[in-house]
Amino acid sequence: MLQTALHFSHTLLKEVVQPGNHVVDATMGNGNDTQLLAELVGKTGKVYAFDIQEQAVQTTKQRLTEQQLAERVHCIHDGHQHLSNYLGKDEPIHAAIFNLGYLPKSDKQIITLPETTKQALHTLQTHLAPRGRIIIVAYSGHEGGVEELQEITQYCESLPQEAFNVLNYQFINQKNQPPILFCIEKKPMRHGN
Ligand SMILES: C[S@@+](CC[C@H](N)C(=O)[O-])C[C@H]1O[C@@H](n2cnc3c(N)ncnc32)[C@H](O)[C@@H]1O
Repeated sequence: MLQTALHFSHTLLKEVVQPGNHVVDATMGNGNDTQLLAELVGKTGKVYAFDIQEQAVQTTKQRLTEQQLAERVHCIHDGHQHLSNYLGKDEPIHAAIFNLGYLPKSDKQIITLPETTKQALHTLQTHLAPRGRIIIVAYSGHEGGVEELQEITQYCESLPQEAFNVLNYQFINQKNQPPILFCIEKKPMRHGN
């Protein structure tokens, strides 16, 4: 069976993240993606996880503590647009994930916004290691979702093909606006560059 966008986002992460890597969860929420990333980077790796909601940070910290994964995760109560304040100058990032929109069963007014998402994407682009991936899962069903999806689509389409492979994965015959996935993969440097 074809994988849902959420399932496929994890497959794409599992394919590239190695023990010791540094990675980013740009939208921590309840910590599903944070936990997967923490497992993939192992004891020697590091996960930077962001959320603007204190509740999300606390829920994720507790979850990671229970799973004995807390030491490898830096849970940051801040917007992902401030990512550059937390990364080292030339620190390579091997993968990042954005799960856009609002946190289910929480305040639906607290949503990701196109401008801040693009700011974070831009920072990540400059830190992305060769063969590294940025995964974005976008939703169009909530207020502001269609505009956000349009802006993310434009952003992804404008990336130069010499430097990036960009994938769009979506089901085009499903009702109720299923999530849409984008994957930005940095091409390896060619010999002589
Ligand atoms: C769809 S939820 C993420 C779900 C999460 N992946 C999980 O496993 O539960 C989106 C999250 O993005 C957060 N968010 C919104 N704007 C943000 C920003 N500028 N920086 C970081 N997180 C943000 C929201 O608070 C919300 O928790």
